[in-house]
Amino acid sequence: MNEIGQIEIAPKTVSVELGDRSYDIMIGCGLLGKCAELIKDRVGFAQCAIVTDENVGPLYLSKVESTLKEAGMFAGSVTVPAGESSKSFPVLEEVCNDLLALGIERGDIVIALGGGVIGDLAGFAASILRRGVRMVQIPTTLLAQVDSSVGGKTGINTVHGKNLIGTFSQPSLVLADLDVLRTLPQRQFSAGYAEVVKYGLIDAPDFYGWLEDNRSAIMDGDLSARMHAIATSCKAKARIVAADEREAGKRALLNLGHTFGHALEAWAGYSDRLLHGEGVSIGMVMAYFFSEELGLCPEGAARRIEKHLKSAGLPTRLAGIPGDELPDLETLLRHIAQDKKVQRGQITLVLAHGLGDAFLTRDISQDALASFIRGQIETALKG
Ligand code: NAD
Ligand code: GLY
Repeated sequence: MNEIGQIEIAPKTVSVELGDRSYDIMIGCGLLGKCAELIKDRVGFAQCAIVTDENVGPLYLSKVESTLKEAGMFAGSVTVPAGESSKSFPVLEEVCNDLLALGIERGDIVIALGGGVIGDLAGFAASILRRGVRMVQIPTTLLAQVDSSVGGKTGINTVHGKNLIGTFSQPSLVLADLDVLRTLPQRQFSAGYAEVVKYGLIDAPDFYGWLEDNRSAIMDGDLSARMHAIATSCKAKARIVAADEREAGKRALLNLGHTFGHALEAWAGYSDRLLHGEGVSIGMVMAYFFSEELGLCPEGAARRIEKHLKSAGLPTRLAGIPGDELPDLETLLRHIAQDKKVQRGQITLVLAHGLGDAFLTRDISQDALASFIRGQIETALKG
C-alpha cells in the first residue's frame, strides 16, 4: 500500500531506441526518493543540479535534494517562476549562469524537475551549457510524463511564436513518478490528458477506445489505469521518435491538433487563459472537423472526440476559450504561417481518415484553410 492506501503497482520501463543515445523512461511510484540510485545505475555517478519552478519546488525539491545529497551527488538547485513565460531568453540566460555558478562541468547532470516548461527550458540550457551536458527529466505533470520529457525537443518561445528557438537533445533518463500527479491541479491533469488522447487518435484506435472506457478511472487517480495510459503513450512516442528523431517526416504526426493549438496559444499570449493541452484539445477537434469538411474522414468522428474531451473537462471549440473576445482569422493565419512545419510557405497539416488514422498532408490550399477557420469563428460568434 502507498501513503493513500492504494495498492502499489510494479514499475514499467519503456526504452527509446536511438543507438548509443538510447535511454529508458521509468514509470512507477516512489521514484523521486530513489532518483539518486536510479541515476547512478543508469547514467552514472555525477554531480547533479536541479532546475525546478516556484510551484514544484516547495512540493518536491527537498525530497530530490536530500536523496542526491545522501548519495554525494548534489550540486545545487535553480528555481524559476512557474509558467510559460519562463521559456524565454532572459530566464534561459539566468538558468545558464546559475548552473555555471554552481560549478556544473561537462560530465555533470542537469535534472529538470517540473512540467513541460521546466523540461523544455532546462533541456535547452543543458544542451548548450559547455556545449552540452547530460540531462535527466523528472516530469511532474501528466503532459510532461507522456510527451514533453520524451524525445529530446527542447526550447523557448519568442515574440514570433512558440518553441522557435531550441535544440534536439535527448535526455539520458526519464523518471515519471505517478505519485507526483496527486498534487497536480485538475485543470492541468485534463490538459495532459489531451496529449494522451492524441496518441490514440494518431494510429491506435484500440487505445483510443480503451481511453473512452477508462477516462473516469484515469481522472479519478486509479494507479493501474494511469500506468497503462502513461506507459502506452510513452511507448507510442518512443516508437515515433526512434523512427524519426529530427522530424523529417513521421514525427510531425505528434503535432496532431498542434497547428491550430499553437496559433490559439500565441493569440492568447501563452497565458493561463489557454493551457497548451487545452489548445491541443480544441486543435484536434478542429483537425477532425476540417478532415470531415474536406471529405477525408467519415462524419461523426469529430463529434465523438469532442464528447470524450469535454467529459475530461477540456475545451473543444473556440467558444470554449474563457474571456470575451474570440480569435480573428488574420491573427490565427499569421501564427499558423510561423508553424515549424511550414516549408516554402506551404503548411503541413495533420489530418485524419478516421479515429486512430491520422496522416500528414501538404495538399491543403491556404484558401481552404482560411475558409474552414472563418467558419469556426462564425460558429463561435453565433454562440
Ligand atoms: P507547466 O510546466 O507550466 O506545468 C503546469 C503547471 O503545473 C505549472 O504551474 C507547474 O508549476 C505546475 N506543476 C507541475 N507539476 C506539478 C505537480 N506535480 N503538482 C502541482 N503543480 C505542478 O506545463 P506543462 O503542461 O507540463 O507543459 C507545457 C509545456 O510543454 C509547453 O511549453 C509546451 O510547449 C511544452 N511541450 C513540449 C513538448 C516537447 O516535446 N518538448 C511536447 C509537448 C509540450
Ligand atoms: N510533441 C511533439 C514532438 O515531440 O515531436
